[in-house]
Amino acid sequence: MSQLSSSHAAAPHQLQLNDQGQLRHFLTTEGLSRELLTEILDTAESFIDASGRSVKKVPLLRGLTVVNLFFENSTRTRSTFELAAQKLSADVLNLNISTSATSKGETLQDTLWNIRAMGADMFVVRHADSGAAHFIAEYVTPDVAIINAGDGRHAHPTQAMLDMLTIRRAKGDFSNLKVAIVGDILHSRVARSEIHALNTLGADEVRLIGPKTLVPDTLESLGATVYRDMKEGLKGVDVIVALRLQKERMNNALLPSESEFFRLYGLDEAKLAYANPDAIVMHPGPINRGVEIDSAVADGPQSQILTQVSNGIAVRMAVMSMAVTGQLQQAQHFGQEG
Ligand code: NCD
Repeated sequence: MSQLSSSHAAAPHQLQLNDQGQLRHFLTTEGLSRELLTEILDTAESFIDASGRSVKKVPLLRGLTVVNLFFENSTRTRSTFELAAQKLSADVLNLNISTSATSKGETLQDTLWNIRAMGADMFVVRHADSGAAHFIAEYVTPDVAIINAGDGRHAHPTQAMLDMLTIRRAKGDFSNLKVAIVGDILHSRVARSEIHALNTLGADEVRLIGPKTLVPDTLESLGATVYRDMKEGLKGVDVIVALRLQKERMNNALLPSESEFFRLYGLDEAKLAYANPDAIVMHPGPINRGVEIDSAVADGPQSQILTQVSNGIAVRMAVMSMAVTGQLQQAQHFGQEG
């Protein structure tokens, strides 16, 4: 699948916009304009009430059907997509892929065509292969809005945008912000999507901190500066994103040991003190306490980890409503032409 998509595919940022430049699929933050990313944040903001929670229910997706297709495990992402769809008044179907027809030999394409025949308007896709959501949007069901909920180590655009919303709500404008992402960046789709979003939104500096095995120098080509030392890397930063060691994507020993990793890169109160005193701490979850983050920091006053989860609902409501609109406009456009 990923082979096909990488050799023949259209650039994702072209694929994800309709002829009027509106979002119709959300596959990656890469290549999207600052205006569009800001529109996502502003739309998400409109779904948050004065108490900081997402609004109750709006009728934007009434009569439409959203299908969650999670080929890989998830707790936060799947649940918040489901809640977001419900708050938009959509009908939501969670397909249990492990017991679905693909395990009886049906191809992914046939499974998806069958679900589309049931009237699906949107697929939320998580898959272990990089390029899976892109492949479906380009070749399988281009007329269904596809939202990438994480593909391999490639992209996780809604996580990146909920992180951007969390940063903007805590810090305001991006232009003066120094952001450090710490840990297993090599395997992180969250980090990749965040780096693109931060650079597009005009962050002052994006730093990547970790050992060579998890943060190769080549990552600088994404528009970031690599640091090996926490003290140097955290000095003067406003935002710290800690990442989980993605052991399921490591096929050989990239780490001496978890305790050694914690000693060097685990975010505890002593290392947090290197950053600006009002720095915020984020983590996409699931957190491994005592590996990449200490409990005192995860549960401390600078932590935004649970706020990120709440903001995830509003961001997913924003992206889903925007993509459905973009798909409808595209269909009408073709209808008028044809
Ligand atoms: C991340 C993911 O699945 O990519 N988590 C998430 O979406 N909340 C990061 C991770 O698994 O470590």
